[in-house]
Amino acid sequence: MRTNFNPHLHKIEISPIVTISERAKTIAPEYEEKSGRHFIYFQRGEIDLPVFPEVRDETIKALQEGKTKYPISGGTEDLREALVQKLQEYNKITGLSADNVVLTYGGQEALQMAFELFRGGRGAGFTPIWTVVLESFVPYSGIHFTEVPLREDFSIDFVSLENLLASGLDFFYLNNPHNPTGKVFTSEELLKIGELCQKNKVFVISDEAYEYIVFDDKKHISLASLPELTGFKDIVTIPSFSKTYSMTGFRAGYAATKNGIASDLLKKAQYTQTAGVVSFIQPALKAALKLKDQIQERVAEFQKRRDLLYDGLKRIDNLEVHRPEGAIYVFPNFARLFPASQKKNGNYIYERLLQNGICVVPGQSFAGTDLFNTFARLSFSATPLELIKEAVERMEEIFSD
Ligand SMILES: Cc1ncc(COP(=O)(O)O)c(C=O)c1O
Repeated sequence: MRTNFNPHLHKIEISPIVTISERAKTIAPEYEEKSGRHFIYFQRGEIDLPVFPEVRDETIKALQEGKTKYPISGGTEDLREALVQKLQEYNKITGLSADNVVLTYGGQEALQMAFELFRGGRGAGFTPIWTVVLESFVPYSGIHFTEVPLREDFSIDFVSLENLLASGLDFFYLNNPHNPTGKVFTSEELLKIGELCQKNKVFVISDEAYEYIVFDDKKHISLASLPELTGFKDIVTIPSFSKTYSMTGFRAGYAATKNGIASDLLKKAQYTQTAGVVSFIQPALKAALKLKDQIQERVAEFQKRRDLLYDGLKRIDNLEVHRPEGAIYVFPNFARLFPASQKKNGNYIYERLLQNGICVVPGQSFAGTDLFNTFARLSFSATPLELIKEAVERMEEIFSD
């Protein structure tokens, strides 16, 4: 039997979050039976709210109307036009046409293809970083990737960033709102990043999967919308339907760039990979774009969960936690709760919480270095309020020992 295949594929690792989830599922029944308590899941970026009826009904209608033939690769023209309109109205990105937009299987496929534009090249991005970037996109495309660590308060070290961008990079991956920290980049930060990339001819992959999920008075700003960057065509904006509309299983996202060569190549890549997104969900995607107040209701629900989780974590002595401004995660630092003997053990908090029926993702999963080993990510989008309350009370108990 042949055992060696494409070396890039051998280097891909299935996200630790999948493994963690599977382990949790096997442990949970025994934990619940023995302790009489709930096992509480905080590990997955899943949404527990149902799909909107407008989206569900449009999908069923399309099926009943027999929209089951080969799709138009890259998305139907009317859907791409609707996406251009949405990008103009919500993201405030002007100057795009339907030809600049490619419909993909989730933000994930758009991102993977965007990395593929630079196969074998040099890229960089802030860490902590979404696990899939380091474990899948980078090895799949053979990218030489440099991590730019955010500071402990998640601010940016612009001196390091500037030096790196001046060193001959092909692209910079930016994720805003940010997984796992919940950071929402300010217009000043975005402008500095954008101007540095423009000056150094570095293409920007702007992952905006959480574009609608921002809290309090925060606003999401798309990098490509900044008036100072209007002439900078080397930005691909990648939003997703998954989190905004609780449509994670539909697998729908898109890429939009004013760089016509890049959008053509993305179209060709999409055609080659899958020949287009499922025909009978495309009308439903158009229907989703019309929902406005409904999205705000869901964001309000996430904000309630964020508040309960953040306020609860804040009460734990010696835990450092920043209030997430967007996305669906909180990323506290447990450094001062580590016993000296465990300082190097990146799984310490994960294991300790797991024994107590709480599943989180260890911070070490979000970087190739050990800089975030004392952190953990908790997702609050699939955990109802009463379980969040129970979890924080339990964590207060655990860490007061
Ligand atoms: C930062 C980030 N980008 C992109 C995605 C892609 O999501 P999807 O492929 O479901 O659109 C995710 C999903 O968790 C994410 O966390």
